[in-house]
Amino acid sequence: MLRFILNNQTVETDLPSGMTVLDFVRYHKNLKGTKIGCREGDCGACTVLVGELTDGEVGYRSMTSCLMPLANAAGKHIVTIEGINPADGGLTPAQTALVDESGTQCGFCTVGFVMSLTGYSLSGGERSGETALSAIDGNICRCTGYKSIERAAKRICDLQFAICNSTISAAEVAGSQIDQAISTGTVPNYFESIGERLRMLFTEDSNRKLKIENRKWMAGGTDLYVQKHEEMVHAGAVSLFDDPSLRFINETADSVEIGPSVVVTDLLESEVFNRLFPDLYRHLKLVSSTPIRNMATLAGNFVNASPIGDMTAWFIALGARIELRDQFSGDERTIALADLYLGYKTLDRRDSEIISKITFGKDFTHFNFEKVSKRTYLDIASVNTAISLKVSDGMIERALVSMGGVAPTPLLLRKTSEFMTGRPFGHETFAAAELLIQDEIVPISDVRGSAEYKRLLARQLFRAHGLAVSSEQ
Ligand SMILES: Cc1cc2nc3c(=O)[nH]c(=O)nc-3n(C[C@H](O)[C@H](O)[C@H](O)COP(=O)(O)OP(=O)(O)OC[C@H]3O[C@@H](n4cnc5c(N)ncnc54)[C@H](O)[C@@H]3O)c2cc1C
Ligand code: FES
Ligand code: FES
Repeated sequence: MLRFILNNQTVETDLPSGMTVLDFVRYHKNLKGTKIGCREGDCGACTVLVGELTDGEVGYRSMTSCLMPLANAAGKHIVTIEGINPADGGLTPAQTALVDESGTQCGFCTVGFVMSLTGYSLSGGERSGETALSAIDGNICRCTGYKSIERAAKRICDLQFAICNSTISAAEVAGSQIDQAISTGTVPNYFESIGERLRMLFTEDSNRKLKIENRKWMAGGTDLYVQKHEEMVHAGAVSLFDDPSLRFINETADSVEIGPSVVVTDLLESEVFNRLFPDLYRHLKLVSSTPIRNMATLAGNFVNASPIGDMTAWFIALGARIELRDQFSGDERTIALADLYLGYKTLDRRDSEIISKITFGKDFTHFNFEKVSKRTYLDIASVNTAISLKVSDGMIERALVSMGGVAPTPLLLRKTSEFMTGRPFGHETFAAAELLIQDEIVPISDVRGSAEYKRLLARQLFRAHGLAVSSEQ
């Protein structure tokens, strides 16, 4: 039995835990405000808000309900448009802004935009015109045109916080996000009681324990539900998404340990990651969209084994190691992430093994990530690459360069990395390494670009690394 709060109602269901939240709300709860567009996480028409207790407070994030299994709703607050519409038939500030700025025509996408903007109003983090626009980076509109929607997004920020002409953190805004949102009519009064109701649900709920009935694992579902939608509904896969023992970011004296179910947004909001990676926001904005970053786990990215997985390229360049734990025997082993990949979608991993920990050393002095895709945002890479360097007294003590989209697997460019190690940190080393890369990669022509184009991208992105790390000196 799965239990969660849907809008203002506690629901219990025995329906398959693999059923999507989208199908549940539309076909079992008759909440038709949430729309079906692509069913692949691309359009945002199905966006809902997901509230979860973290450190005693409820935090809300936007998610695409078409890729979200009911299993991942257990113990949470799921909010559809019906859950925020004012009882008096009026409009919320997000709805008003879209109407006033002529941000809607046919209206099919509008609910998704409203939910994303409402999620923005409820979330923590920096408040600025740029972050308001980021909040709707997962929503597509086919008929209105984006300028009016962008104006509406900026207006929400201005109206609610009067701060979008400057950069200010949410912490500097008086009162909790939820109190603020209630006082501005962004969400109804019942949101006040959700924290307490979730606490009760959590205490009573026994479903959150990891059940090990089979060897099918899922996390955020953003790859699995795109690739095997029908199968997933009845797969009975064990969700690793909410297991607290798999969601942590711990810093030690010389390393960082991360739980495999940490999502990309957790990194964006992590003090440790913002300190270690000054360009974190610029880099991670290139990864999918806000709702997908809210669902996409690191382990999911690694095990999906796409040659162009962004977080895979990122962590290979950090020399990350992964702990694999057999869920049946309890055996554990640790390998380098780069060694997980044996061939196209072939991994050094048994079905019964899950990734239980990711670790990387902090002793790098420079890091950069680059990605080129057909669209700048919400698109997978044609080629991506990351570099980490340990530089001391003008010499490169250790170099690690990763690249994706240039071979059947995500690549650690071993020869290039070895070549750079022990050489002076400067233009000549980068210029010579650039030539070596061309011998190490074997790109093929596909929908993401011709082999020749990918070779050109590999060269240009490596040059971009050179510029980025030399400006960090
Ligand atoms: C619209 C859209 C845009 C996207 N954009 C990008 C992008 O820009 N860049 C990018 O890299 N990816 C992108 N993706 C792909 C996807 O979001 C990521 O790969 C994501 O990190 C997958 O994580 P997940 O938790 O959703 O994985 P799931 O789909 O839940 O699982 C993926 C695989 O990982 C396995 N798995 C999950 N956790 C574990 C574990 N702890 N141990 C062992 N196996 C495990 C599952 O069994 C499954 O085989 C996009 C996807 C969508 C739908
Ligand atoms: S229906 Fe398009 S993102 Fe869900
Ligand atoms: S208003 Fe028609 S798709 Fe956006």
